[in-house]
Amino acid sequence: MSGRPVIVDCDPGLDDAIALLLALASPEEIDLLGITCVAGNVPLAMTERNARIVVELSGRRDVPVHAGCPRPLLRPLNTGERVHGKTGLDGYDWPAPSLPLADAHAVDFIIATCLAADDGAITLCPVGPMTNVATAIVKEPRILPKLREIAFMGGAALVPGNVTPVAEFNIHADPHAARIVLESGARLTMFGLDVTHKAITTPERLDAIRGIGTPAAAAAAAILTFYDRADIERYGARGGPLHDPCVIAYLLRPALFSGKECHVAVETESELTMGQTVADWWGVTGKAASCRVVTGIDADGYYALIRERLACL
Ligand code: RIB
Ligand code: CA
Repeated sequence: MSGRPVIVDCDPGLDDAIALLLALASPEEIDLLGITCVAGNVPLAMTERNARIVVELSGRRDVPVHAGCPRPLLRPLNTGERVHGKTGLDGYDWPAPSLPLADAHAVDFIIATCLAADDGAITLCPVGPMTNVATAIVKEPRILPKLREIAFMGGAALVPGNVTPVAEFNIHADPHAARIVLESGARLTMFGLDVTHKAITTPERLDAIRGIGTPAAAAAAAILTFYDRADIERYGARGGPLHDPCVIAYLLRPALFSGKECHVAVETESELTMGQTVADWWGVTGKAASCRVVTGIDADGYYALIRERLACL
């Protein structure tokens, strides 16, 4: 493979599924070394099953799926069936997966893959709670120089949260893991609600996906139709925000996005603000920037990229 070596860590999850399809459809740009799964939107037994289903849909049986941590580091597991359905992939009649789960624990796969790589080679893309990534960093800090970047979906720098007034789901689910990652010193690129809430799957965009005609596009349109209902009810929006694929689209076409380097901290003490990502946007703390916070997106270009790649599967 000629592409950028990438590990996607996820909790499929309807938007995770679209992110995986986008990565799996882009072998020239993304050398997807493996998919690691964590408990989040639904329990781990479902997230790893759902990842295997999506890999099979893509035809990329060369990509291994590893199961990881079944719960957050300290907090109880709170799942998101309200949004993603009981299976985590509701809205489409999926065949049972025949692809076996890979043997190694996700954390051990991340560690082994990073240690075998050159310095600065590996891009980690967590798009669920960061329990696996944080555990890998704690268990084997020698992976840090091996990382090119951690590009993640999570947080809310300047906008309200989606599970509490200030916290976004992935960070709130495991704030202690997020704090370990954000304090790791790795190069970080944050795709929080600031940017993902500008990527709305409007009826027009959904119809365009539905009209592509490939099996992956048909499945994507079906699950996005199911996914939209929760956000329309909550936000009165014309569709659901397509969170996780932003991370993969950034790897493919970084010019679709814009943002700013600043220091970002995670609240892990107060129950009132637990999981808040506190971005020092104006540098008032004097602390060095630790993260590129993405806030801008060419949403039409984003959906055009998704359509282009779904047409390949
Ligand atoms: O807040 C959005 C995030 O939470 C997305 O990653 C979605 O899949 C859920 O995990
Ligand atoms: Ca997710």
